[in-house]
This record gives sequence, structure tokens and C-alpha cells, in this order.
Amino acid sequence: MKLKNPLDTHLHLRDESMLALVAPFSAKDFKAGVIMPNLITPLTEIDVLKAYKERILKACKNEDFTPLMTLFFKDYDEQFLEKAKDELFAIKLYPAGITTNSDNGISSFDIEKLKPTLITMSELNIPLLVHGETNDFVMDREANFAKIYEKLAKNFPKLKIVMEHITTKVLCDLLKDYENLYATITLHHLMITLDDVVGGKMDPHLFCKPIAKRYEDKDALCELAFSGYEKAMFGSDSAPHPLHTKECCGCAAGVFSAPVILPVLVELFEKHSNETNLQKFISDNACKIHNLKFEKDKIVILEKQEWQVAQKYGDVVPFMAGKTLNFKVAN
Ligand code: NCD
Ligand code: ZN
Repeated sequence: MKLKNPLDTHLHLRDESMLALVAPFSAKDFKAGVIMPNLITPLTEIDVLKAYKERILKACKNEDFTPLMTLFFKDYDEQFLEKAKDELFAIKLYPAGITTNSDNGISSFDIEKLKPTLITMSELNIPLLVHGETNDFVMDREANFAKIYEKLAKNFPKLKIVMEHITTKVLCDLLKDYENLYATITLHHLMITLDDVVGGKMDPHLFCKPIAKRYEDKDALCELAFSGYEKAMFGSDSAPHPLHTKECCGCAAGVFSAPVILPVLVELFEKHSNETNLQKFISDNACKIHNLKFEKDKIVILEKQEWQVAQKYGDVVPFMAGKTLNFKVAN
């Protein structure tokens, strides 16, 4: 099977030795990735963003891979955004303290306060990517954020708003109600529910934010992805953490899926959908939504071949560790 310009629209590459370890997996299999800005010091400055992009390109060696850079949301003035827009793909908003390295996020969704930055973003056509969780009961966090998405969508009708890594049927439905709402969906949320995380023996490597939900939620996500629904894009949320921060008390949130994404997706779509819809989900929808064009196409070939996923890559345990997969990305 051939995939044209696979895109990962939500990717954590980290920095330094972790960047060197994980970037080659995405660079080999994908044409481009939307790089998350939640480094230990969140990315809020243009020069820092440009330097990070250079480090990413270096870590990707000579692969044909484009890092699409994002800044961490805060109040930015017009002058700054005008200057930043050519270096930027989008701005990512995190509610304060909701996930890894998000302490400097937003603590109020007061529209008047957000207005100056969001209006300028709409005018400059800079998309807003949102980690949509309140700090309510963990299973309700995403569904309760729906009212904030509605408020944003209504107040900023020209702003492209992407609901990142959606995990609930509520948001699958909301997507259809507002023209300017889009969504990304991860691989793991098409496959697991809370049962897989804590229903039997607890699996820290499946613990992520937002937490996987109920079977009906997973089914709604699968319905969007497998039908190639035009407002849903693939975004892995591949989020590596060293083993000692996962297998401990106070486990870090994040699933490291980068090494297995395309083989697993191909198998899923072969079983439940078809190649055309996979091409839409993995690239075409995002290219249309974000008006992405590439000078040169990257064709990624998947061959039917069994291989076993490593138990660890460096000191990171991947999604599907030790499992046998039936497709392999050709070298
Ligand atoms: C992400 C991370 O580790 O940076 N963790 C996660 O569980 N998904 C942050 C995020 O996207 O929430
Ligand atoms: Zn993420």
C-alpha cells in the first residue's frame, strides 16, 4: 500500500537526547509534523522557535520531513504575530496545569481577555489548536470543555479552531455543529478505552491526557476516522517519556506511538475501512483544512511483512511494545 505525504498533525518531539532518539521515527514515515510547543520552557518567542526548528531538522538527519512549528498560547500583540506568522503553523492553547509542561497555560476563558489575540489570529489566518479539558472529574473533563469550544467557535467565526486529540462522542458530534471547528484523532484512542488503562492491571504506558474513555466514545472516533470524515485529521500525540517517569508513582502522561503509527493504521483501515479513507485521514483532510502544499511528494510504501515492536527504544517504551505487526514501512 502507498500513502502520499502522511501528516502527523500533533507531535511531541521534545529536545536534546530525547529529540535525537524520537525524531527519526516520525521523519522517516511522515512528510510533515505539527510540533507541539510544550517544552520545559514553553515556546513563546520567534528566535527560540526558529532555533528549535533547526535542532529538529538536524535530528531528522536527511529525511524529507517538514516540522510545522507552533507557539504556546499567551496574549500576543498584533506586531508580534505579524512578525511571527511566517515561521508559524499555528498556536497551541493549554489550560493551566492540565497536562505535561502546561503550568503557564490559560486559567481563564474570558472571551474579552482572549479577544485581542484571537481576533488577530483570525485576521492573520493562524489556526488555534486547543487542548480541550477542564479540571473537573477526569472522565468529564473533555465533554465539559464542549461549552468552551462552542463559545470560541461562536465568538470567533473566522478563527480555525482545532480540537486536539478528541476522545469523546460529545466532541465528535460538536464537530458537525460549527463550521470553524476541526479535530485531530490519535491512533491509541481508536484502539483503547479506559479498560485498557486501568480495567485490569494498570498500564502506565497507556496513560495519557486526555485519558481514554468509554466504548461508545471509541466507536464514535472510529466512525469519524474510518469514514474519512473531512474535518477529522490524524494527529498521533506521540508523547515520549523516559521509562523511570512512567513506571513509578506519579506516572507522566503520554503514549509514545511514533514507531508504529503507519503499520498499525494500515492494519486497522484494512480491517474496518479502506485505503482511500486512510489517505484522507492521514493527509488529504489536513492538507485541505490547512491549505498545505508541498513542492515534492513523499510516497511511503507499506509492505505486508511481520515484525516485532521493540520492548524499548532507548529508555522509552513504545505503544504496542513486543507486539507482532503485519505491515512494515519499506526502507
Ligand atoms: C503530552 C506530553 O507528554 O507532552 N501528554 C499527553 O498525555 N498527551 C501533553 C499533551 O498533549 O497533553
Ligand atoms: Zn499532545
